[in-house]
Amino acid sequence: MDSSTSHGSPWLADLDERPSLSTLLTGHEDTDVAVVGAGIVGLTTALLALRDGLRVVVLEGARVGTGTTGHTTGKVTAQHSLVYADLLDRVGVEKAQAYADANVAGIALVERLADELGIECELTRTDALAYGRFASTRSRIEREVEAAVRLGLPASFVTESDLPFEIDSGVVFADQLHLHAGRYAVGLARAVRGAGGVIHEGARVTDIAEGDGRVELTTSSGTVNADHAVVATLLPPGLMGGFFARTRPKGSYGLAVQLSSPPPASMTISVDEPARSTRPWTPPGGGHGLVVVGNGHDVGDGSDGLEKVADLERWTRATFPVTSVDHRWFAHDYTTPDTVPYVGRPPLAENTAVATGFGKWGLAAGSAAAVMVTDAIAGRDNAWAEMFDASRRDTLRALPKLAVDNAKVGADLVTGQLRTGAPRCTHLGCRLRWNDAETTWDCYCHGSRFGQDGEVLTGPATRPLDLG
Ligand SMILES: Cc1cc2nc3c(=O)[nH]c(=O)nc-3n(C[C@H](O)[C@H](O)[C@H](O)COP(=O)(O)OP(=O)(O)OC[C@H]3O[C@@H](n4cnc5c(N)ncnc54)[C@H](O)[C@@H]3O)c2cc1C
Ligand code: FES
Repeated sequence: MDSSTSHGSPWLADLDERPSLSTLLTGHEDTDVAVVGAGIVGLTTALLALRDGLRVVVLEGARVGTGTTGHTTGKVTAQHSLVYADLLDRVGVEKAQAYADANVAGIALVERLADELGIECELTRTDALAYGRFASTRSRIEREVEAAVRLGLPASFVTESDLPFEIDSGVVFADQLHLHAGRYAVGLARAVRGAGGVIHEGARVTDIAEGDGRVELTTSSGTVNADHAVVATLLPPGLMGGFFARTRPKGSYGLAVQLSSPPPASMTISVDEPARSTRPWTPPGGGHGLVVVGNGHDVGDGSDGLEKVADLERWTRATFPVTSVDHRWFAHDYTTPDTVPYVGRPPLAENTAVATGFGKWGLAAGSAAAVMVTDAIAGRDNAWAEMFDASRRDTLRALPKLAVDNAKVGADLVTGQLRTGAPRCTHLGCRLRWNDAETTWDCYCHGSRFGQDGEVLTGPATRPLDLG
């Protein structure tokens, strides 16, 4: 890796230059809707709730857009690798249709908001391709095309692509989108402020308690009382809803590289392992560029991050005419056992909604989640809500997977006792692993990550490490 490579995603590169969008939370505030988290889900929710005439306060532990939204590949698409054939088999046509419709509507919402608000986020329409290099994946791809077409998605079967190597087969979804995720998030945040919403950055929520028909949210600098809370923090903090035990934190590495000739115009993702995801990127000074994401693994599982990112770079240089590697980063998202996000009220909650488990596909689905939670707050029916229901019982098919995941976490809790010198996670006490590539302390159990000085970078932990 070149010494001029910047550590961090290209979407956040000019973050420090932007004017503050936030005011300081001090003391106590009262509002209709408190949104926790200023990623794509929280900001879209805040804007839609304001458009419903509600007062909104957004509480963001770090800065607007700096969570996984700021570290995404930036594909806004209903193509989530291969998912529809499996969904049709498992949940039937009605629910699979709801999944497809929600994502199609999510894409349309992103396009409409960017247009209405004049957000200059390099929004680009292009095809999305999920491909197999080997004949062994062809039948899965054929099934996916058939299922997607049945659900009305713009899918077709191909055996050629604009990638600089042969593919065996692929499924193309026409007319999907990619964008500059940082600019889209900042554009949403400006719109939230412009519509009268309040954003407090640096306000990490440590407790969310329901009582007397209201919700109280506690942060280190003050409290907020609201009629409704929407928890859009990638994974809900603390123990809320037990989502930490019903999801797995999966990370990937990203590179933004400059090329000597134009990149493939389509967005691509390999179906075979190791996963390789690409999309065109425009470097700030112009020219040709590409974002490449891959080499995923569970957060904190002891993988050699430096080698993983070096391997991704080797593949990228061997495949494309790379002239410089400008950015590299690592980020994670949560998968659910049935591959469907959890959106809506968690078990036992009255006035709190969550949106989590987007499985690295939360830009279209997360925008749709904002529609679902604001519809619920406004008392409107929503045709997708049942499919994504956050209180659904995990299906029989999902239970063995959950049991295996939690057994691994349990084993890590035990073996973690043997790893001396590493601090313990402030969520539930697992031993952390040092991540050389990112210089962070990472937790295998549920994905909390901490900076060198112990600050919480991502939850579910809410308290810093005691490194004393
Ligand atoms: C490497 C990678 C590539 C991806 N590529 C794609 C892609 O191409 N297309 C796609 O659709 N999806 C992609 N995804 C997934 C997608 O980026 C996410 O699903 C989506 O950004 C999640 O948005 P969010 O708003 O839920 O979470 P985030 O963007 O993480 O926002 C959550 C916010 O909550 C804040 N927060 C957390 N805890 C607290 C707390 N206790 N109090 C206050 N604030 C808190 C965080 O600081 C953060 O800003 C990718 C994911 C990864 C990891
Ligand atoms: S994130 Fe749960 S124990 Fe660390």
